[in-house]
Amino acid sequence: MAELEGLEFGKSDFVLLDEVTMDQFMENLKLRFQKGRIYTYIGEVVVSMNPYRQMDIFGKETIEAYRGRELYENPPHLYAVSDAAYKAMKRRAKDTCIVISGESGAGKTEASKYIMQYIAAITNPGQRVEVESVKNVLLKSNCVLEAFGNAKTNRNDNSSRFGKYMDINFNFNGDPTGGHINNYLLEKSRVVHQQQGERNFHSFYQLLRGGSEEMLQSLHLQGDPALYVFTREGAGAATSYNDRSNHKAVMSALDVIGFSNQEITSIYQILASILLLGNVQFEVDGESVQVVEDGVVNQIAELTATDPDCVVKSLLYRTVATGGGEVIEKGHTEQDACFGREAFAKALYERLFGWIVSRINSVIEVKNYNPVLHGKNTVIGVLDIYGFEIFDNNSFEQFCINYCNEKLQQLFIELILQQEQSEYQREGITWQHIDYFNNQIIVDLVEQPHKGIISILDEACLTVGKVTDTVCLESMNTKLAQHPHYTSRKLSPTDKTMDFQKHFRIRHYAGDVTYSVEGFLDKNKDLLFQDFKRLMYNSANPVLKEMWPDGQLGITEVTKRPLTAASLFKNSIVALVDKLACKEPYYVRCIKPNEVKSPVLFDDARCQHQVAYLGLLENVMVRRAGFAYRQLYSRFLQRYKMTCEYTWPNHLMASDRDAVEAIIRQHGFQDDVAFGHTKLFVRTPRSLFTLEQERAALIPILVLFLQKIWRGALARLRCKRMRAIYTIMGCYKRYKVKAHFWEVEGRFANVRTTADYGRSVEWPAPPAALTQFHQITLMWWARQVVKNIPPSDMPEVRAKVAALTALQGERKHWGVGRAWERDYLANVRNCPQTSSDFIRVSKELKNKDGFTQVVFSGLCRKVNRFNKSTDRALLITDKFVYKLEPKKQYKILKKLPLDVFTGLSTTSGVDQMLVLHTSNKDDILLCLQRGELCPNQDRVGEVVGALVDYFTRSQTRLQHHIHKHTHLRTRTHHHTHTQTGVVLWGLLKSCVLIRCSCCTIRCCCCCLSSRSAAGILKH
Ligand SMILES: Nc1ncnc2c1ncn2[C@@H]1O[C@H](COP(=O)(O)OP(=O)(O)OP(=O)(O)O)[C@@H](O)[C@H]1O
Ligand SMILES: [Mg+2]
Repeated sequence: MAELEGLEFGKSDFVLLDEVTMDQFMENLKLRFQKGRIYTYIGEVVVSMNPYRQMDIFGKETIEAYRGRELYENPPHLYAVSDAAYKAMKRRAKDTCIVISGESGAGKTEASKYIMQYIAAITNPGQRVEVESVKNVLLKSNCVLEAFGNAKTNRNDNSSRFGKYMDINFNFNGDPTGGHINNYLLEKSRVVHQQQGERNFHSFYQLLRGGSEEMLQSLHLQGDPALYVFTREGAGAATSYNDRSNHKAVMSALDVIGFSNQEITSIYQILASILLLGNVQFEVDGESVQVVEDGVVNQIAELTATDPDCVVKSLLYRTVATGGGEVIEKGHTEQDACFGREAFAKALYERLFGWIVSRINSVIEVKNYNPVLHGKNTVIGVLDIYGFEIFDNNSFEQFCINYCNEKLQQLFIELILQQEQSEYQREGITWQHIDYFNNQIIVDLVEQPHKGIISILDEACLTVGKVTDTVCLESMNTKLAQHPHYTSRKLSPTDKTMDFQKHFRIRHYAGDVTYSVEGFLDKNKDLLFQDFKRLMYNSANPVLKEMWPDGQLGITEVTKRPLTAASLFKNSIVALVDKLACKEPYYVRCIKPNEVKSPVLFDDARCQHQVAYLGLLENVMVRRAGFAYRQLYSRFLQRYKMTCEYTWPNHLMASDRDAVEAIIRQHGFQDDVAFGHTKLFVRTPRSLFTLEQERAALIPILVLFLQKIWRGALARLRCKRMRAIYTIMGCYKRYKVKAHFWEVEGRFANVRTTADYGRSVEWPAPPAALTQFHQITLMWWARQVVKNIPPSDMPEVRAKVAALTALQGERKHWGVGRAWERDYLANVRNCPQTSSDFIRVSKELKNKDGFTQVVFSGLCRKVNRFNKSTDRALLITDKFVYKLEPKKQYKILKKLPLDVFTGLSTTSGVDQMLVLHTSNKDDILLCLQRGELCPNQDRVGEVVGALVDYFTRSQTRLQHHIHKHTHLRTRTHHHTHTQTGVVLWGLLKSCVLIRCSCCTIRCCCCCLSSRSAAGILKH
């Protein structure tokens, strides 16, 4: 916690100083720097000191400590502002930006990297692949852009030589979905010339020192920067930058970002071409200028996939269109040729850089974005631009860079100092005005139309005829003589730090800078002969061609004069400022503690100078007098109304302001707020944090409440719908039933009069509710049929029905189609010789045993357990079952009471075998004989039917089994029986009865158990 950071480390927020004076400010800054506390707040602004050493305050653990916390909950840190910007973006769907400013070497680029690292670490908790890949590209792009856009200067070993503004897009979830990088004015003059002790862009040294043997060979290079004019100056420069390892990192980053192999090769071919171009020399041969060594030109031609002759021609000649539309080739002077070559080298590098940025943008741009589907697309911008710089020799580039810093300072003043104060005034808050230096006057000096330096430069560039840098300086001296922030030797003749006709000085917000006007016009014109553009456009390398689309214009095609470099830069910076101004800004103000990159030295004068020009003291004053947070009453109420009983869900007070007052009173924050005309001002973030915490605790309860209400509403709605559905369904069902009856009525109208009682009439498909109904009518139909059966036929019908039920459809032939005559032995047609004998015996038995009816009588063949078969007659009456000897006038052999029978078994085949099971296991196994009535008569069904019917009616259960007719092959000790079927087993306890083609009936395996018998059968 900030409060927990002991006082020995100084004050963590400058607002807490006892007195706001420069001395106290500097004292606190120094103390904190010496104690290793490099960050200090001014409210939400972070003041960052460059530690010039690795600090143990970055990484995963620290990120976790800052994640989702309020600013004052932890010691000051970049992570805290990053989180504040992220929270504002996520909570309030506000676009935010983090502006990092400070002079060259103050630590802006490092800060921007930590900010990116933090944002990457706290987003995408779900590890979604597409979000991870966006984050990866955003992080990796840094490494590539630094290699191509940074260089060692005398002030910073890794100085950004271009401005970078990166927008990161977020979805409604707060996960990065893409981004966009804007780059500003690359200091391309560095490609061809560096000040003493400085280096060209890192990329050249990385290639020469880190490129493999084969790579360098294929690029016609040797690994020593001293061999190339463009890298010679920096070849010996000591730097903390490791070119070799960085080369590897860049190669892998290019790959990760998605550059193809051809694109990567092309990038290095262009770098090599630039290096070789620097080594091209010219000589004057009589009238004309020649290239000294053709070999280098050929290598350039090969690397750029162009024709060597064309390369030579572009270097030595320029094609111009005469007034009459004629095209002529004009030879260069040696000076022109050198100028052209350098302009070409610079342009090649600049376009390469621009192309790399646009290629990265094409990878990270937000794709398939649909605001309806994905919600508001919010943005966090991170600005890391070249810092204010003063060199011994300051040229056009420093002029542009310092102008850009003026603009950003102006934005800071506008947003933090000016706007803030004017808002207090507008809102009627009591306020004591604080003076601050407004650098608008310097901004105007540079950019004002007609009068500003850029206008004067442009005018000079447009003037036909020989206008030199000195003429331009003269013009500035005349026009700006009265300006308090402009001077030159001519205007201050006694100031010997400037030369006549060479220097002018601007009193910038951050200090006086003397610029040398030499080269200003050329750099502003940024002239490149059209011939080079055409040469590159006609390259066979598609990557190169893509970088030079303007090369397709013909010589005679009239082209508008392009905007000058300064105007282009001004426009881009104005656009940048507009972009920043519409976002909620967060500031990181970087301070460079000393000029010698020492981690311990605190150069008081240098630091105080920076504190002064950055306006930090004024910032503290405004902040101390001011309020950390302000919000329209309506919006404040909307956000916090649930924290007060008088305002939730809606207040009944006269105005929103009164309602807000009620909230504030309830929380006891009266002394920490001021009430403006339209807004509430809250002095300390703590009060706001308390409100936020309370809100966060209440939200789940509110959500539950709303869910409850909504679920109830949904359920009621669903119930209503269901009721309606059931009503409709009921009506429809009734209609369907009625319709079915109408249809049935129509079809069956006359069935009572038809012969089959409507059996042949087809039923309409019934609705589900009426499927049973069909069954009922079947019963009616059956009743109609049965009604007409004469009573004499009824026993037979009943027996047949009983047989049908008992056989369960498993026995196909059971004699249903014939008349069942029951008493076959008494039937003359069946037994013409013996029937009279039987009738007599039957009568005697009837008298003797007292039975009332014959259930069945017929001839049969009996099988005993010794495998012997004999003809017998069977008489079943309602009292007894008799076994008779047909050959001896039906002598009674066996008589069993009917009630000892417990079951009967038949087979599913056509045979006539039947087993009558008894309760005392004395089963009767027999095969019914067909008699003489009909040779194929089946009588098994009849016996089964008659017996089952009888037993059913006497309410005794008779078990019946139908055994599967099985095919088998079995061996006995007599011979092999190969024909059909076993039939019954287990019938006589332990006998298997086999019937085959050669032996009608055979009984075997007498002493086997039924299980073993089954075993045999299975064989
Ligand atoms: N937080 C830090 N921790 C350690 N070293 C740092 C830190 N910030 C800056 N430095 C050191 O300072 C050097 C310069 O920092 P950086 O490149 O960020 O400056 P800059 O403000 O971007 O300058 P320029 O305007 O020239 O681009 C870094 O190379 C690094 O050595
Ligand atoms: Mg930088």
